[in-house]
Amino acid sequence: MSEPRPGEVLVSSARLQARIGELAVQISEDYRNRDLLVVGVLKGAVFFIADLVRELDIPCELDFMAVSSYGSAAHSSGVVRILKDLDSPIVGRDVLVVEDIIDSGLTLSYLLRNLASRDPASLEVCSLLTKPGHRRRGLDTRYVGFDLEDVFVVGYGLDHAERFRHLPYIAVLDPGTDPPQG
Ligand code: IMP
Ligand code: MG
Repeated sequence: MSEPRPGEVLVSSARLQARIGELAVQISEDYRNRDLLVVGVLKGAVFFIADLVRELDIPCELDFMAVSSYGSAAHSSGVVRILKDLDSPIVGRDVLVVEDIIDSGLTLSYLLRNLASRDPASLEVCSLLTKPGHRRRGLDTRYVGFDLEDVFVVGYGLDHAERFRHLPYIAVLDPGTDPPQG
């Protein structure tokens, strides 16, 4: 069995950067004269958050959380463990959670419930990618980069078994092929 590897490029680096520029314009308008705290969810969102905040033309602060969902990589269970919490309280602040991808939305719903209980002034989500499962669930995601079909993707922060995060584009994971039998 050959190793899974990146296949067809779904979103090129140029399209990613163009869309991130548009999102940054919208976010800069929406959060002007507010107290913006951008919260990145490790590790998948690191490249997205880094490119996004550098396009903002308003002040902001950064913080990070790391979570792990129980269950396999392909099917999250909705039970989430916080591996790294925020450095500072968020009470009264305008919090924008930046995610790499929302699939079932279970990880994010847990995270949002947890953050909402800390009384921020506002709580919104910016996800680079979404899949159909999330759209059926009707999670309210204020900013979305690209809506994808139900395919497993890697690159630009997204991994398969911790590999391929460094690719500057989003590609479909090609599962690899079985060697011919006999
Ligand atoms: P959810 O709880 O089902 O929304 O799972 C979200 C998490 O699953 C993301 O933050 C990713 O870590 C991971 N994930 C979901 N779909 C993909 C994918 O296509 N490629 C890589 N990681 C994915
Ligand atoms: Mg992951």
